[in-house]
Amino acid sequence: MDLQLTEEHIMIRDQARKFAQEVIAPVAEGHDLTGEFPFESVKQMGALGLMGIEVPEEYGGAEMDAVSYVLAVEEISKADAAHGVIMSVNNSLFCHGILQFGTEEQKKKYVEPVASGETIGAYALTEPTSGSDAGRMQSRAVVSEDGTHYTLNGRKSWITSGPVADVMVVFVMTDPDKRNRGITAFIIETGMPGFAVGKTEPKLGIRASATCEITMENLRCPVENRLGAEGQGFKIAMVVLDAGRIGIASQALGIAGAAYQASLQYAREREAFGGVIGQFQMIQQKLADMRTRIEASRLLVYSAALAKERAKATGGRYTLEAAMAKLFASETAMWVATQAVQIHGGMGYSKELPVERYFRDAKITEIYEGTSEIQRMVIARSETGLR
Ligand code: CAA
Repeated sequence: MDLQLTEEHIMIRDQARKFAQEVIAPVAEGHDLTGEFPFESVKQMGALGLMGIEVPEEYGGAEMDAVSYVLAVEEISKADAAHGVIMSVNNSLFCHGILQFGTEEQKKKYVEPVASGETIGAYALTEPTSGSDAGRMQSRAVVSEDGTHYTLNGRKSWITSGPVADVMVVFVMTDPDKRNRGITAFIIETGMPGFAVGKTEPKLGIRASATCEITMENLRCPVENRLGAEGQGFKIAMVVLDAGRIGIASQALGIAGAAYQASLQYAREREAFGGVIGQFQMIQQKLADMRTRIEASRLLVYSAALAKERAKATGGRYTLEAAMAKLFASETAMWVATQAVQIHGGMGYSKELPVERYFRDAKITEIYEGTSEIQRMVIARSETGLR
């Protein structure tokens, strides 16, 4: 694995870091408190090319590689994990899928405005009664007799950016008898009649990222908005999640890095028992383990990004690498954030410092885009060939 960062990698990392620290960090606490979506800074992220990093320039993106993407998501998430997931969903769950499976018209019409940050994209797979078991969905789509459109009905839940998205990829059952193979993907505009935003989730963390239910009631979707072939939807959903999981792993890496940096600084400054607490072996052990696990996560994230890059050339899969990176980085983020709260003592539990936010934000990385249990299942299936 070649870990040498290129000039381009360093440039995007430094640019994302500067923007994150100068623009996002000062507003992160306020957005976390109010839960308000950060329209202003997200627009600016678009102008910087961060909303479509790997998207070719002809479709409004920055045309950079997967390593650039993970470096940028990490930096943004260090300042605020909510911005990190907005960015990750836009880049991976929306743009990536349409680029890989869409028609030329779909790429021009839908990827371009989303990749350039003019509009926001979302991905709707989960339903109230199907989360991990994504194939067991209830929503239905029926094609019209003249074959010009589909009628979509159903409810989707936990849709990141759902309340603010202009367009989303939804997965709907077109042939229930075929189970996974009867699912089809569609690109829907949220202005289409029959689309409605349902309840917004009051979340523990990543509070500035808007998350909601959506309903589709006799939503008429033109046939040209079908993404891929009929029945190909589940595979599209899984392929897209492979990309998404690398984004979430990078987000987790950012949260862990922020929690570690805060702890390191506090350990150098906070005095107790006649010295700074960083002199105590129990604190040193925590810091050493935090740093080591973060570096191990980083290697898995880079390895997954390089595997994704190789897959672009060969058409192969990087399911295993993405799952391992997501599993390890998210559990590391939760563990590191827990140690950070402990090192800060009472101050770690207070809203006066961002450490408690890192702790709340870290938890979701072990849940969305496939829980840790699902990642272990994916890894074990890939290794054993058994299901
Ligand atoms: N790439 C390509 N194909 C894949 C694939 C992948 N990564 N994973 C599975 N497939 C294919 C299989 O090869 C199989 O193909 P065939 O039908 O040709 O045999 C087909 O898909 C079905 O696969 P499985 O039999 O493995 O399906 P399953 O029902 O057992 O489910 C699962 C597998 C891994 C558990 C899957 O359901 C899963 O990943 N669940 C978690 C869902 C998830 O991550 N949801 C998050 C939603 S997004 C979100 O969190 C919100 C947000 O906005 C941030």
